[in-house]
Amino acid sequence: MSDPLLRYRSEFPILETSTYMISNSLGAMPRAVYDSLKLYADIWNTRGVRAWEEGWWDMAANLGDEIGSILHAPKGSVSLHQNVTTCEAVIASCIDFSGKRNKIVYDDLNFPSVMYFWEAQRARGARVHMVPTDDNITVPTQRLLDAIDEETLLVPISHVIFRSSYIQDVPAIVEKAHRVGALVVLDSFQATGTVPVDVQQFNVDFCTGGVLKWLCGGPGVGYLYVRPELARRLEPRFTGWMAHQNPFAFEVGPNKYAASPFRFMNGTPHVPSLYAARPGVNIIRDVGVENIRAKSQRQTQLLIDLADQHGWRVNTPRDPQRRGGTVVIDMPNSKEVAQELLRRDVLIDWRPKAGVRFSPHFYNTDQEIHTAIAAVEEILSARPVPR
Ligand SMILES: Cc1ncc(COP(=O)(O)O)c(C=O)c1O
Repeated sequence: MSDPLLRYRSEFPILETSTYMISNSLGAMPRAVYDSLKLYADIWNTRGVRAWEEGWWDMAANLGDEIGSILHAPKGSVSLHQNVTTCEAVIASCIDFSGKRNKIVYDDLNFPSVMYFWEAQRARGARVHMVPTDDNITVPTQRLLDAIDEETLLVPISHVIFRSSYIQDVPAIVEKAHRVGALVVLDSFQATGTVPVDVQQFNVDFCTGGVLKWLCGGPGVGYLYVRPELARRLEPRFTGWMAHQNPFAFEVGPNKYAASPFRFMNGTPHVPSLYAARPGVNIIRDVGVENIRAKSQRQTQLLIDLADQHGWRVNTPRDPQRRGGTVVIDMPNSKEVAQELLRRDVLIDWRPKAGVRFSPHFYNTDQEIHTAIAAVEEILSARPVPR
């Protein structure tokens, strides 16, 4: 079967030397990153300090718009930061916990860094309510909805769960949160680039994530979308001169907030990471997330079928509508199997209470999926399985 997305394979050198099935963790590096980082060095070298006014200062806003186009966000609504945790900190700095409405509601399948951050806000007066999962795969939506009440300020949740690839019922969560006056922070890290995200259709208040996984953009860039009507009313206290209406006036005293996206930024931007991120973001825009999603649903089904044939436990939803780009397989001795797969250049990862995460992306062939599963089969047949 011909697969038009495979024409992008040559853009990713690491595909020549490994079975790269780990785009849920770090997407493969586009070849064009070499040129992009060289361009950065050339501009720094030849233009020196003039580089700031010739593109560097606006770069986070411009790349924010490019990432925003993947999120279906309006222009000017996405600011860039170092990572998701920093984006959550920007949001928290807009919020006051001193009133009765000071409850943070999320589930225990949230990404731990996000939990650690909000847990730490208890010291500022936040009350944190964590809804438990029953099966480590799905979030009990009704239980989450029931926990969102008139005292809830914020609902910071993952769009796609990192441990299981379960896709949350975002519309139901937004509907309940807004009905009682709470705001939703959607962490779309495990979705953006493989599962369609439409922040306007979802009507979420905030959307955050990073570029290093499914967007193939490397470490160092997290994005923060803020719903424009809300953004105008927010004044982050984690702020700095990039957020000032006139930063080069060097005015003393309190910040005079600029419009979005600069409003949500703070100090000097992470320019090298922005250069590294651009090629991946452009390739994903070129391929199209709808095309990636169609292929991903087919290849994740293939992984599930192969796991079933071997009788291995699948810790990922079987419903393709509820399943993201990863399939988590908990075969016997899964942690040791993962180590051996890595030794054989089958790149995957392993997570506790989950298993081995296989994450094919648009550049993977079906043959690579068969190769990865055959390697597991061989590893398991070579060692005794404890009962
Ligand atoms: C859903 C989700 N959120 C957040 C993160 C990482 O957060 P940060 O960018 O703060 O390191 C990950 C990383 O694996 C993730 O899967």
